[in-house]
Amino acid sequence: MQLDEHLKTLGADEGLHQVMMACAQGVYEISNIVRTGAALGYAGTQNVFGEQQLKLDVASNDVLLKVLREQPLVDYVASEELPEEIQISKQKAGTGNVENSAEFSIAFDPLDGSSLVDVNFAVGTIIGIYPKGSFIGKKPGEMHAAMIAVYGPRTTLFVALKGKGVHQYLLTDGGFMLQKTELKIAEEGKYFAPGNLRACLKNPGYKRLVDFWLEGQYTLRYSGGMVPDINHILLKGKGVFTYPGYTDEPNGKLRLLFECGTMGFAIVEAGGAVSDGKISMMEKSIEAIDQRCPIIAGSVKEVEKALSFLI
Ligand code: AHG
Ligand code: MN
Ligand code: MN
Repeated sequence: MQLDEHLKTLGADEGLHQVMMACAQGVYEISNIVRTGAALGYAGTQNVFGEQQLKLDVASNDVLLKVLREQPLVDYVASEELPEEIQISKQKAGTGNVENSAEFSIAFDPLDGSSLVDVNFAVGTIIGIYPKGSFIGKKPGEMHAAMIAVYGPRTTLFVALKGKGVHQYLLTDGGFMLQKTELKIAEEGKYFAPGNLRACLKNPGYKRLVDFWLEGQYTLRYSGGMVPDINHILLKGKGVFTYPGYTDEPNGKLRLLFECGTMGFAIVEAGGAVSDGKISMMEKSIEAIDQRCPIIAGSVKEVEKALSFLI
């Protein structure tokens, strides 16, 4: 079954369906750029996080901005590659009194795993679809849907629809075809994806947690790309992903709006848990679009065990 048709059977309302199909078109175009190597190397620019942008970061960002500007229902957009949120509905309305029919605000990391592109590891795109309006003050739990693309040996797409589960599609010559429905994450499972291991030096709780996993003979499944690493938990149906902070960087590296909130939304929709170390990521208020936060995500009991070491 095609993505288009499956979204209808899931009961996505017309507007959300329209915007999600536009995002899927963007993922299709980004997949082609990734695969043909049409945008390798550095763009010579930096993003607001001070990270050197790849041509692929910029090209992927341009693709998503293009497809979303064509959507009358999109209000604000925010990207890991842009310095601030943009109200594209207003830009389109201009000075005229065009009725602002916008219903959704969309935040995205157009290319997650930039440091892995040159070594041909799997990378991804992360898209969070929120109610309209500014992102500031919103919480990830308010999202209508999350879309997560994995550019690996195959291009696959997760769709997490609020209250309607998480589903996986495969990009074929005939478009995105449904592969797996109702993905579920079991309460526990011995896979671990320990991001930011450097933190063990100054975060003794993290060192103890890693020792716990080793003594428990957990299986390491970590690539350095948040999208493929959480893809593994969603498809194996168990495991835990961490990227904690430490004294020098108490909030770690990952961004609440562009990575932790959206990836966390999909994990929760699949029956898992996601925390910033203190509260559920779904309840964490977005105070700035460049806000970073620690993340512990995956099987409910594995998150609980991890938190018992980190708090
Ligand atoms: P991005 O490429 O969008 O900047 O994000 C990469 C993130 C995430 O994919 C991964 O979990 C993390 O960076 C890895 O961070 P380190 O390089 O510090 O290990
Ligand atoms: Mn990222
Ligand atoms: Mn990125």
